[in-house]
Amino acid sequence: MTKNELKMWLASLPKVELHLHIEGSLEPELMMALAEKHQVELPYGNIQEVKQAYNFENLQSFLDLYYFGASVLQDEDDFYQLMWHYLLKCKQDNVVHAEIMFDPQTHTQRGIGFEIFMAGFKRAMQQAEQEWGQSSLLIMSFLRHLSEASAIETLQAAKPYLEDICAVGLDSGELGNPPEKFVQVFEMAKSLGLKRVAHAGEEGPPEYVWGAINSLDVQRVDHGVRSIEDPKLIEYLKQSQLPLTVCPLSNTKLKVFDHMEQHNILVLLELGLMVTINADDPSYFGGYLNDNYFAVIDHLAIEQHHLLQLVTNSFNASFMSTALKVEWLSQLKGNE
Ligand code: ADE
Ligand code: ZN
Repeated sequence: MTKNELKMWLASLPKVELHLHIEGSLEPELMMALAEKHQVELPYGNIQEVKQAYNFENLQSFLDLYYFGASVLQDEDDFYQLMWHYLLKCKQDNVVHAEIMFDPQTHTQRGIGFEIFMAGFKRAMQQAEQEWGQSSLLIMSFLRHLSEASAIETLQAAKPYLEDICAVGLDSGELGNPPEKFVQVFEMAKSLGLKRVAHAGEEGPPEYVWGAINSLDVQRVDHGVRSIEDPKLIEYLKQSQLPLTVCPLSNTKLKVFDHMEQHNILVLLELGLMVTINADDPSYFGGYLNDNYFAVIDHLAIEQHHLLQLVTNSFNASFMSTALKVEWLSQLKGNE
């Protein structure tokens, strides 16, 4: 198959997205419209200028713009619009199931409570489910640059909404904020029946991946690409099949790898790890899920069987019910 044929085939497959920050799907058009609606002053004159600002040196330089961009999200309808636009992209990209992260502290710190964003998210998710059978779950992520006490307060505030939240996560600036800082809140989340994921090994060293595994008891590691530096960790990830949610365009945009040719996802896959492809913050990093697959098709020696394995992994690594998994995996088998 040519690269173009591979892309068309890939686009037609049902897929799952497991690492997506809903605040990172805020497109410049919606950001500008909401800024006007709420009279928020943005340092950008037009959409072109917003896009030009998206040139990042590292994770922190992105996070500064990302938290600032989120300040235009204020009422229930803003959060509905944000979620709705992302779910429409899922439909377009044939993402049949998405596990979507949100950062409550980014909003509660500005006086916007769970009742506002949860209502907007839920309305969009239910509408997409009714209109085209979109399946989606929510992951509540704690900001690791804030204290554990703040994360615990957030978990308490989320208690009336736990029916609509499947897992907790850990994101924001990784270096200097190791997983061990959040042991207590992750234990509390586990005892409330929540699943657990954490960003680790994006900019942080392999020790942070071990920390997420041993101290937070995670069911998936977000990113995890720096695991390659520790052979014992690679062996553990291979044996345990603990999934890594890898985000190729994010990793090159944030200079975890200088060029896509240097990305290690294919190496990790060939070593037998349970790796998946995801978009992270698509509006900031230049593409949604299919674009991330296309980027690795363009720049790595990836073949059809690798792609099928990555898509199969995305279903296996998800928190969807076993019955649904079996159904989708049998559909996928028909595409070999
Ligand atoms: N928040 C949104 N995207 C993130 C990323 N790639 N790493 C850490 N925190 C994030
Ligand atoms: Zn992320």
